[in-house]
Amino acid sequence: MHKITIAIDGHSSTGKSTVARQLADYIGYLYVDSGAMYRAVTLFALGKQFISETHFDKSSLVKALNDIHLDFKPNAEGKQEMYLNGENVERQIRTLQVSEFVSPIATVSEVRKKLVEQQQLLGRNGGVVMDGRDIGTVVFPKAELKIFMTASVDVRAQRRYEELLQRGDSINFDAVLENVMERDQIDSTRADSPLRIADDAIVLDTSEMDEEDQFHVILQLTKDRIAKRV
Ligand code: DC
Repeated sequence: MHKITIAIDGHSSTGKSTVARQLADYIGYLYVDSGAMYRAVTLFALGKQFISETHFDKSSLVKALNDIHLDFKPNAEGKQEMYLNGENVERQIRTLQVSEFVSPIATVSEVRKKLVEQQQLLGRNGGVVMDGRDIGTVVFPKAELKIFMTASVDVRAQRRYEELLQRGDSINFDAVLENVMERDQIDSTRADSPLRIADDAIVLDTSEMDEEDQFHVILQLTKDRIAKRV
C-alpha cells in the first residue's frame, strides 16, 4: 500500500508531538519531531555561549553549523530520541531554558535551511508523520494529509506546566504562560517560514479534547486519506 506523508503543524503545546508519535506507532510510520532538531541546535548555541539573555551572535552560530550533527535513534522502547554530536540530549532539550531561546534560533534562515534539508531527507520515501511549524507549508508542501493543531493559550500553558512539573522541574505557571505567548509571537511573525495554516490543512482546536479524542480524530482523518489513495 502506498505510504503517505502526514504533516502536523500548529502552536506550541497543542499536543502535536504526542498525537503524532502515537499515530506513527499505530500505522507503522516513521515519526519525526522537527522541533527537537531546533531545540538541539539551541542547546548547542547555549553551550557555545552564542546566545544568552543579553546577546545573540548569529554569525558564529552560522559558521559553526557544519559542526552540528543531529540524529534520531530509538531507545529501548522504540521511542525516537535526539542525539547531538553523538550525545543523547533528549532530556536536556526539553527544559524551559531551551524553550526560552529556541524561537530566536529558529528565525535564522541558515539554521532552517540545514534542518529542512535533513527533514526532507528523512521523509523522502513517504511513510512519515512529522510535526512542527512549517511541515505542511515548506518541508512537505505536497503532503497528502496536513493537520494544523491549535488550542487556547491558557490550556496550552497549563499542559506544558504539568509536563514540566511531572519531569520534576521547579517552575512557575506564569513563566510558562509567558514563554508560550512569546513563542507564538516570534514563530508567527518571523520572516522565514512563519507559522501559518497551509491552505489545504485541516484545523483542529484541541482546547476541549483529551489525548484520546485527539488520537481518534486524527486516526480517522488518516484512514480516510489513505483510503482515497489506494
Ligand atoms: O515543537 P516544539 O515546541 O518543540 O518546537 C520548538 C521551537 O522550534 C518552536 O518554538 C519553533 C521552532 N520550530 C520551528 O521553527 N519549525 C519547526 N518545524 C519546528 C519547530
